[in-house]
Amino acid sequence: MFEAQVAAEWARVFTLGKARPKIAALFEADPARAKGFSREACGLLYDFSKTALTEQSLTALLDLAEAADVEAKRAAMFAGEKINASEGRAVLHTALRAGPAAVVKVDGHDVMPDVRATLARMQAFARKIRASDITDVVNIGIGGSDLGPVMATQALAPYGDGPRVHFVSNIDGAHIHDVLKELTPAKTLVVVASKTFTTIETMTNAKTARRWLAAHVAEPAAQFVAISSAEEKAAAFGIPAERVFGFEDWVGGRYSVWGPIGLSLMLAIGPEQFEAFLAGAREMDTHFTTAPLRENIPVLHALVGLWHHQVCGHATRAVLPYEQRLARLPAYLQQLEMESNGKRVSQTGQALAFGSGPVVWGEPGTNGQHAFYQLLHQGTEVVPAEFLVAMQGHEPDLADHHALLVANCLAQSQALMLGRSHEDPQRVFEGNRPSVTMAYERLTPKMLGRIIALYEHRVFVEGAILGINSFDQFGVELGKEMATALHPVLDGAAAEGLDSSTARLAAFYRSFQS
Ligand code: F6P
Repeated sequence: MFEAQVAAEWARVFTLGKARPKIAALFEADPARAKGFSREACGLLYDFSKTALTEQSLTALLDLAEAADVEAKRAAMFAGEKINASEGRAVLHTALRAGPAAVVKVDGHDVMPDVRATLARMQAFARKIRASDITDVVNIGIGGSDLGPVMATQALAPYGDGPRVHFVSNIDGAHIHDVLKELTPAKTLVVVASKTFTTIETMTNAKTARRWLAAHVAEPAAQFVAISSAEEKAAAFGIPAERVFGFEDWVGGRYSVWGPIGLSLMLAIGPEQFEAFLAGAREMDTHFTTAPLRENIPVLHALVGLWHHQVCGHATRAVLPYEQRLARLPAYLQQLEMESNGKRVSQTGQALAFGSGPVVWGEPGTNGQHAFYQLLHQGTEVVPAEFLVAMQGHEPDLADHHALLVANCLAQSQALMLGRSHEDPQRVFEGNRPSVTMAYERLTPKMLGRIIALYEHRVFVEGAILGINSFDQFGVELGKEMATALHPVLDGAAAEGLDSSTARLAAFYRSFQS
């Protein structure tokens, strides 16, 4: 990569960004705009026509992607090179879904036999549990060991024909309390999901679950299973190797739903539907690695993201699934995008020239329409919106609901773009607010796999162009360390060296303990 060339391409994009036309005017000038600025692949219609991108600015962004060596970086990731340089790791979550014939090497060693063996163990285990009298599964994990499985299990509820799956993540005792109080210990399986097996929230909740089981069943260990890269720590907790599903350090937490961390999802929907989930992601991987940049949906999604945040200066992006079962998608994407690209320096430690990733937030439509859409339409902040919508629901007898849902989704992107003039300033909608829409037939396991892989690759491309290492997360460490240091102070240890605000808050806490 020639840094000067990348800088020159950024400059060109910024110049075009300053002179960007009104979105509605682009439609007036080109009646075929919707076709030119949309793509169809992997069962998805990706429509980015309701943005201010023109042929010229899109070309400039594609040139930027080329100058930043996105294709070579992509090849390096799929080839198992150690692109997570700060941690000296390969980035190969794609290997978890690479399929039966794939060969993927790390340090010259094919990792696929192990991946397939672990998948086969998961399938056998899932079949056994699904055929047993276990009625409930409690997945204890947090961050990537929670958000992927909970998002996907909820999204694929129509395919859930196994035990009920519950998720406990927060260290707040209310979370595990409220889950366990509904369950029968003898019929509950506890899945402790933690790559490191040291995360304080997960270990605290796992110990509580162990006490709960021990109080009610003769052999609590038989009702535990662990998912972890740290087999010896799981063993120390009392979960023997044959009940541990391991994965390698080249699977990042927020990219881990495709492997053992997806066990709870597999228990809920069964191994066959889980395979369809993997197959959907695999299809998106093939599209991402083979489609020319101009036709490549993850690449275009990334360029739209950079255009809106870095170039147009919109601070946040809203993810708005018109799909109630995707209620946890925004939270999942918050970790995926913000933990990956929320960095202040580049791979080489230099301050980022154009800022890091944006704040990601959202809620399903139509609920959001009755909450924060007021600001989306009339607020002074422009929030680029990302709509996701299925053409069919899973409830054929409620097709009338679905038509209304789709009408609302399409109307919102239209209203954001067109706005409305009015003599009363309170009733003016300025319009010209950008959005993209991702439409698909139905939220099947395969389609969910495609959508999640699309977002993963978008994060990769944005990071590659910004020069970020999207695969480390040092930003989560400081708070964890300080919590560990502060814990004894809450128990009464001297508050030496604490700032007066924290010391006062700690004293306030202590004043309520007996
Ligand atoms: O706090 C951040 C983090 O390290 C995430 O990256 C990760 O997904 C989560 O904690 C959970 O980690 P673990 O699976 O090791 O418990």
